[in-house]
Amino acid sequence: MKQDELKQKAALAALDYIPEDGVLGIGSGSTVNLFIAALATKAHLIDSTVASSVASFNLLKHYKIPVLDFNQVASIDVYIDGADEINPLFQMIKGGGGCLLREKILATAAKKFVCIVDGSKMVTALGAFPLAIEVLPMAQSYVARELVKLGGLPVLRDGFISDNHNVILDVHHLPLHEPIALEEKLAGIPGILGTGLFAKRPADSVLLATTEGLQFKERT
Ligand code: A5P
Repeated sequence: MKQDELKQKAALAALDYIPEDGVLGIGSGSTVNLFIAALATKAHLIDSTVASSVASFNLLKHYKIPVLDFNQVASIDVYIDGADEINPLFQMIKGGGGCLLREKILATAAKKFVCIVDGSKMVTALGAFPLAIEVLPMAQSYVARELVKLGGLPVLRDGFISDNHNVILDVHHLPLHEPIALEEKLAGIPGILGTGLFAKRPADSVLLATTEGLQFKERT
């Protein structure tokens, strides 16, 4: 089975997680795009959604799914998003699409985070995928030097400006054996606005589609 078909399986399974009379947080990326398309058939069941990117917001609007600004909702009941890597503790690397800052905000605010992935995203240890870091443009060189001190190799994402008008550094080779400690250390560097390391806020559930079938996993 092709990767896109597996993404579709995980996306369809996430329809069971639509909260009744609640707010649904919507992530970003190709797996989430499939989820949004499937959601269009259930628009009548949806109270309201909030989106983690301009792209997802526009896609929700396109399918006439009710979508609000995050400031208009008091809480998020369920947040559904993909990942670039996810480990057995459900910690993740995200941000391949560059939407990591808003994704982290919605995921952290959500009562439940459901991660939808195909089998290629499941890893024993995080770190083969470069870590996306959103940086205030005026601090880009300073932050890059600090990341080098931590053992990383930062690469500016060429021609990319985030929804929040910032730049993204894709950082290779960062030591990721203690993901929570690294996430906290990175958060302490002025100029870093957010990272794609989701260790302090792991997923609660994973819908994992592999060629063997669909697995539902809950964090213990
Ligand atoms: C977007 O910024 C990312 O965090 C995505 O959730 C992640 O890159 C997974 O994307 P795909 O579903 O396209 O693989």
